[in-house]
Amino acid sequence: MKLMKTGVLCLALVCAVSAAGCGQVGNAHGRIYRNQAVTEPPEITAIPEGGEALTGAPEIKRVVHTVTEKPVQTQEPDPTIVISDTEPPVTETPEESEPEVTESGVSTETSRSDESGTETSESGTDGVGEPGDGPAECIVYKDGDTTPTGARVEVIDGLTYVDGVLIVNKSYGLPEEYAPGGLMPEAESAFYEMAQAAAEDNIWLYIVSGYRSYWYQSELYWGYRSWRGLETESFSARAGFSEHQSGFAMDINDASRNFVGTPEAQWIEEHCVDYGFIIRYPEGKESITGFVYEPWHVRYLGKEKAREIADSGLTLEEYYGLTSVYEVPVEEY
Ligand code: DAL
Ligand code: ZN
Repeated sequence: MKLMKTGVLCLALVCAVSAAGCGQVGNAHGRIYRNQAVTEPPEITAIPEGGEALTGAPEIKRVVHTVTEKPVQTQEPDPTIVISDTEPPVTETPEESEPEVTESGVSTETSRSDESGTETSESGTDGVGEPGDGPAECIVYKDGDTTPTGARVEVIDGLTYVDGVLIVNKSYGLPEEYAPGGLMPEAESAFYEMAQAAAEDNIWLYIVSGYRSYWYQSELYWGYRSWRGLETESFSARAGFSEHQSGFAMDINDASRNFVGTPEAQWIEEHCVDYGFIIRYPEGKESITGFVYEPWHVRYLGKEKAREIADSGLTLEEYYGLTSVYEVPVEEY
């Protein structure tokens, strides 16, 4: 019986993954948007500390995708449900439903949170701003552009670097073929350096999800979509748009709301920058990063860049003047 149920679950996931295959890869889609070339520099509303003023900035070529749909309205999350960044959602009874996700065989993908418990406090937004904010813009800078903060954009083999930093968010995806197969060695060793320092403070840190392949992310996302519907967009990235695929991001200890406010979360928040990490999705920045607060998800940038950005008090998007908005609206994905 358990096998049959598992089979049905797997079949559903395979169907979902097939559907995802028709979805977007990288930034190649523009078909459902009004695309317009804009030649004048964008208006600047804020210049981050550590950023450069735009004065005399070179002409900026950019493509503006205006999302004409209203922001997604989602229902309040069910407070009894756990949202985990790493576990595929389960709709069956817990004893029968240990998820058996087909993975790509990469070791760090198999790291899982085994937590279960409380709930999500997500706002349920789609990272497109609050209702009434107007349409969210997906601005995608191309190779050779300069962002509003004066940072140089380079696109190499489909990967977008801004000021030398690989950007992965809702506006900047990774090709399906991009598969480093594990965490970047510098990110992994920085984590162990950090974990050792934490242990000296009696804080035990471990990675529950490191590198995730395009297809593993697809399974996670579509699993959540079948369970949580459109709300998924606020906490799980579409395939090709997860920082986990880059090998520079990892989830620590417990990728669920249980982790919020724990001593471990506090320690990471206070010290991760010393080891070259930033908390990628800070509290209250959902409409900028595109994702709800995730105190467990850190991104390795190297000590110098992490310090600059952390000291600015800005998100990566704000620091470099980037959007994090999908080109393809959820209704068409
Ligand atoms: N939970 C983060 C946003 C991801 O899915 O990559
Ligand atoms: Zn994560």
